[in-house]
Parts: sequence; C-alpha cells; structure tokens
Amino acid sequence: LESNVLDQHARPLRDLRISVTDRCNFRCTYCMPRASFGKDFQFLPRSELLSHEEIERAAKIFVGLGVRKIRITGGEPLLRKDVDILAAKLVALTTPDGRPVDVSLTTNGALLARKAQSLALAGVKRLNVSLDAIDNAVFQRMTDADWTVDDVLHGIEAASRLGIASIKINMVVKRGVNDDQILPMARHFRGTGHILRFIEFMDVGNTNQWKRNAVYPSSDIVRLLHQHFPMEAVSPSAKGEVAKRWRYLDGQGEIGVISSVTQPFCGACSRARIAADGRFYLCLFGQKGVDLRALLRESESDETLRHTITSEWTRRTDRYSEIRGFAPLSYHPRVEMSRVGG
Ligand code: GTP
Ligand code: 5AD
Ligand code: SF4
Ligand code: SF4
Repeated sequence: LESNVLDQHARPLRDLRISVTDRCNFRCTYCMPRASFGKDFQFLPRSELLSHEEIERAAKIFVGLGVRKIRITGGEPLLRKDVDILAAKLVALTTPDGRPVDVSLTTNGALLARKAQSLALAGVKRLNVSLDAIDNAVFQRMTDADWTVDDVLHGIEAASRLGIASIKINMVVKRGVNDDQILPMARHFRGTGHILRFIEFMDVGNTNQWKRNAVYPSSDIVRLLHQHFPMEAVSPSAKGEVAKRWRYLDGQGEIGVISSVTQPFCGACSRARIAADGRFYLCLFGQKGVDLRALLRESESDETLRHTITSEWTRRTDRYSEIRGFAPLSYHPRVEMSRVGG
C-alpha cells in the first residue's frame, strides 16, 4: 500500500537527501568560503556523525513513509570512509510495493577516478558531478583548492566507462566570476550524453556573501545558448523536478537550468534532508532541524521515529525560495549547505 504523508501544501515526502560528512576537499566560494571554513574550523567529530547503521535504519523508515529517491551528499561524500558500502546498503532497500529505491550521489569529482569502480559495484547508477568551469584557472578561482579540471574530467570518464549510466554535471553560475564559461561548458558536454545543468547562485548558509546581482538568471543562459545552439523545451519527466530541461535541436543531447532564485520550485518540493549531524530538515534553508540522531541513539523504537518524521512533515509549510524575493531573509539564520547537503 502506498504511504502518503502530505505536508500543509499537500506535498508528499518522496526524496531523501542524506549528508554523510560536513568536510570537503574544495572551498567553493559560494558554499565553504575559506574565510569562514579555514584551518581552525571545527568539523563534526566522528562520534557526532550518523553511523552507517543509523543512516540505514533512518532511510528504511523514510522509505516506509513514501520516499522513492535517496541522494547521498555532503560536504564531499567521497571523503567518507566506505561510502560505497553505505551506498550498497541503500541500493538494497525496497519500497513497500517491492520496487527498488533510486540511489544517487552528488560529488565534486576530485576523488571520483579512484572511487568510481566501488560505487559502480555498489549499484549506484546515477551521479551528479559539480563542475563550474572548463578553464582550469576559473575552476580554481571558484573552488579555491589545488584540484584541477582534469581531475574531475578523469573521474567523469572513469564513472562513465564503468557503466554508471546517468551522469549530470552541475555548474553554479556566478556573474562576473564564471559566466564566461557557460558556452565553453555547453560546447564541451554537448554530445557526451552527460546533461549539463546551470544552477543559479543561491543564498544558502550564512557565509557566502550572496548578492542578488551575482545571480545569473537562467532565462539569460537559455537565451545565450539558444543563439549558438538552437534548443526546444523538454517536458518534465517527474513531478517536483528541480531542473527545467532543454534539448539541442541537432540531437546533441540536453541541458537543464535550476532557477531557485528567479523561478522557485517550492510548489512541488518533496525533498527532506538529513544533515551530517543527524538533524532532520524540511528545507534547504532550514534553521534548526530536529535531532533524529538522539532518537536513533536512545534506541527508541522505529515507531517513535516514524511518528516524529510524520508529524514534522505533516506540519511542514516551508517554501523559502518563493518568499525570499530579492533579499535573503536576514532574520533567518540558515543551516550551512556543507552540513545539510545540496
Ligand atoms: P536528480 O533530479 O535526482 O538528478 O536530482 P537533483 O536535480 O535534485 O540533483 P542535485 O542534487 O544535483 O541538485 C542540483 C542542485 O539543485 C543542488 O545542488 C541545489 O543547488 C539545487 N537544489 C536541489 N534541491 C533543491 C531544493 O530543494 N531547493 C533549492 N532551492 N535548491 C535545490
Ligand atoms: N548556490 C547554488 N548551488 C550551490 N551548491 C552549493 N552551494 C550553492 C549555492 N550557494 C551546489 C553545488 C553542487 C551541490 C552540492 O550544491 O554546485 O552541485
Ligand atoms: Fe565542497 Fe560541494 Fe560545497 Fe564545493 S559545493 S565546497 S565541492 S560541498
Ligand atoms: Fe524545497 Fe525549501 Fe528548496 Fe523550496 S527552498 S524547493 S521548500 S528545499
């Protein structure tokens, strides 16, 4: 029987995004600026992260409540030891009506060449890889680390060669920083089968100095691309999908735009998140979250967890991106993206 927990806007709980670490080997300026995440930054100690067993138990309960897709995120999830073993456990979950759960992972790609094989063997069929530029100097300006574009491209190649069927490339666009990479990135990924998605720079967390004028609106990206490579709109493949899709008319594949600033998509948002510290968030722009770790560790019954999750989701009213308007809500301290996961 289909379980259907609905929130205050009648949105079902369908996706779960699990952050497995708050650490990252990049310092992207829009996510973990070095000024705030420097060498003295206190990351979560191991004991405060959920264990594999705790994650698996929580995931099982969420699947029982209607979750069909699970995304492993971070920080950088490939920094978590044995993340492939965790992935295999999640791949093995089935929905109440006996279907497999769609398990995917979001990575910056730096360690992907090394880890692709174990992920493929674990049964991960979909990966999203962040890449903000094809020019290495621009890439390093965005990521503020020593890894190179080639490291990421080698990771993508390896994953592709090992049979990971769907690889999407995520590019966050910041005006005046990497907007000159929009066309080169499109040119590079056209015809590869990997879908490039352009993401509007968002005001997640409290440290990334977000300014409205640094957002490069998706409509401008589509217009620019269209002048070089004519495209047509593709109808959405799933309800609540974050990206609007476009197809090149010459058959070289598709792109997507994720416009959470200029065209927010909270209306069908079915995404719940578990942060690296085990807190449960109803929105990417959540504030405090609910401590699932405590419930998991007090070895409360699954029934208690189910009840807590259901009552939180049932009361959910979140639609931050729709009410943000032109300025981040300054009274509203937000969880950091590196902790809650993309
Ligand atoms: P699939 O469709 O399953 O591939 O997943 P996805 O498109 O949700 O994947 P991904 O994690 O790559 O999301 C891409 C980007 O969209 C994230 O990095 C965020 O920047 C943004 N995003 C994803 N979900 C949300 C959301 O719920 N709210 C907002 N505002 N942005 C989101
Ligand atoms: N705005 C938009 N996207 C962001 N991401 C991280 N921080 C931001 C932000 N401020 C995206 C990354 C990656 C995913 C993990 O989240 O590009 O694709
Ligand atoms: Fe790391 Fe991803 Fe954040 Fe960049 S966006 S700092 S790669 S977690
Ligand atoms: Fe969902 Fe919050 Fe993102 Fe809106 S801002 S789409 S409610 S996570």
